[in-house]
Amino acid sequence: MGFDQLLTKVFGSSNQRYLKSVQPIVEQINELEPAIKKLSDEQLRARTAEFKEQLQQAVAGVTDMNERKRREREALDEILPEAFAIVREASVRTTGMRHFDVQLIGGIVLHQGKIAEMRTGEGKTLVATLPAYLNALTGRGGVHVITVNDYLASRDAEWMGQIHRFLGLEVGCIQNDMDDFERQAAYAADITYGTNNEFGFDYLRDNMKFDLATCVQRGHYFAIVDEVDSILIDEARTPLIISGPSDEATDKYYKADAIIPQLKKGEELDGKKTGEYVVDERQHTAVLTEDGVDKAEKLLGVGNLYDPSNMELLHCVEQALKAHTLYRLDHQYVVQEGEVIIVDDFTGRLMKGRRWSDGLHQAVEAKEGVKIEKENQTLATITLQNYFRLYEKLSGMTGTAETEAAEFQTTYKLDVIVIPTHMPMVRSDFSDVIYRTLPEKWDAVIEEIKDCHERGQPALVGTVSVENSELIATRLQREAVPHNVLNAKYHEREAEIIAQAGRKGAVTIATNMAGRGTDILLGGNPDFMAREFLKKQEVATDAATEEQ
Ligand SMILES: Nc1ncnc2c1ncn2[C@@H]1O[C@H](COP(=O)(O)OP(=O)(O)OP(=O)(O)O)[C@@H](O)[C@H]1O
Ligand SMILES: [Mg+2]
Repeated sequence: MGFDQLLTKVFGSSNQRYLKSVQPIVEQINELEPAIKKLSDEQLRARTAEFKEQLQQAVAGVTDMNERKRREREALDEILPEAFAIVREASVRTTGMRHFDVQLIGGIVLHQGKIAEMRTGEGKTLVATLPAYLNALTGRGGVHVITVNDYLASRDAEWMGQIHRFLGLEVGCIQNDMDDFERQAAYAADITYGTNNEFGFDYLRDNMKFDLATCVQRGHYFAIVDEVDSILIDEARTPLIISGPSDEATDKYYKADAIIPQLKKGEELDGKKTGEYVVDERQHTAVLTEDGVDKAEKLLGVGNLYDPSNMELLHCVEQALKAHTLYRLDHQYVVQEGEVIIVDDFTGRLMKGRRWSDGLHQAVEAKEGVKIEKENQTLATITLQNYFRLYEKLSGMTGTAETEAAEFQTTYKLDVIVIPTHMPMVRSDFSDVIYRTLPEKWDAVIEEIKDCHERGQPALVGTVSVENSELIATRLQREAVPHNVLNAKYHEREAEIIAQAGRKGAVTIATNMAGRGTDILLGGNPDFMAREFLKKQEVATDAATEEQ
């Protein structure tokens, strides 16, 4: 047996043991259900205050921090079954959804500060309500539910917020365009929804403030991270950076930019370069040839570009050349409201607020004719990894964590628990198909999509980059197969398109982040269809008549 197999074997059986060990808690919750069903709305809500009181009592008079925490944990475990039963009932009365038993297990896993792997569509959003409610009862502040984008944060805060508000808790939601007062209010709530970037940046900004009263975050008590693999593993090492302008002149970027279109592109053949510059897409480089340097010197009106006094200008020219040859609008970046925004190559997501370093960003700004932000100096920075380590208790949910289990364990000391599906799986998961060459792969992909489309089977095509999405789209266009392309640039609209991706014969191409968290229903999503219909008739959703 290989080491890997050994691992899965050990892992598999300890997982089974874990599931078995929490089964009695699930039964306890189920046993409470009939009695709790009898409670009135007011009686249910009253339990929240009583729980809070109970938790205060448990730590009353204890001054030792560790002892306080130990007692608090104990008290939380004690009230868990009833609290979960109450959340379940509140959910039935507000959202109409009754937590399945496997969702209760998921809730326990999260409460214990572990990662719950639940397959896609198993209802992780609803799972989070259980530990969020329970832990908010301590009143310590800082129960944060973290999602991958603003759209999901507000969707979840609204949708799941019904349950919490019904039980008398306050729910806040951090959105990108909020000011400090709004943020403070959102953090003051019992439970706060928001994205990893917002939480991280708020932390950084708070650290730069001089006055405690203006800080927005209250603490880092408990985090429930949705799509935890992408946040804690894929993005974890990307630093969040707050930078401020330094006083540097920006006209040199425009000067350098102006000469690039006048240079002739050449190529490199057998080590010999022709033209005035050569580009190597593969190595991601662009350099001036000797002729190019001569021409640039003439155009700029400087004697020798390589003279130490011209170092800065030379650097600008080099960056401008890169900006023109290797960075394409709507591929590597987009321009929105006069700002150059980086598009993440892998996920297709917009990286608002991030800048390329070393003058490249300014070069692209010059190329696009937008205002050049001054070269920045870093004022504060933290990696997401270090941010999430601030939490006293960290937990996460994802559809696929098992493969990264080792990394979760070593980096964050987080266990992964694989939770069975509510119903037996009816989805067929096929194994990978491997092609010898890329063209063969793309041919097969196109054939498969055409076949699905002709049979009326809706197809969702996932790609790793915006580039690949476009490649497929071009081929489909040639084959006259109607399709939608999403690259996670417009979350809200994309969620709507994704919602309809299940209609007959639909073909939807998306990078892996696009529309994440939206249900694809076979035949289309009636909710979204109705909203779409009303929008066309220009009727507000709440004002719609039965007939409409
Ligand atoms: N207990 C339940 N009863 C009825 N419907 C449920 C229940 N739990 C979840 N759902 C429904 O299942 C669908 C999927 O839920 P959700 O989006 O939370 O899944 P998910 O596990 O987060 O999936 P993904 O991995 O794609 O993000 C939603 O439409 C939700 O309303
Ligand atoms: Mg989800």
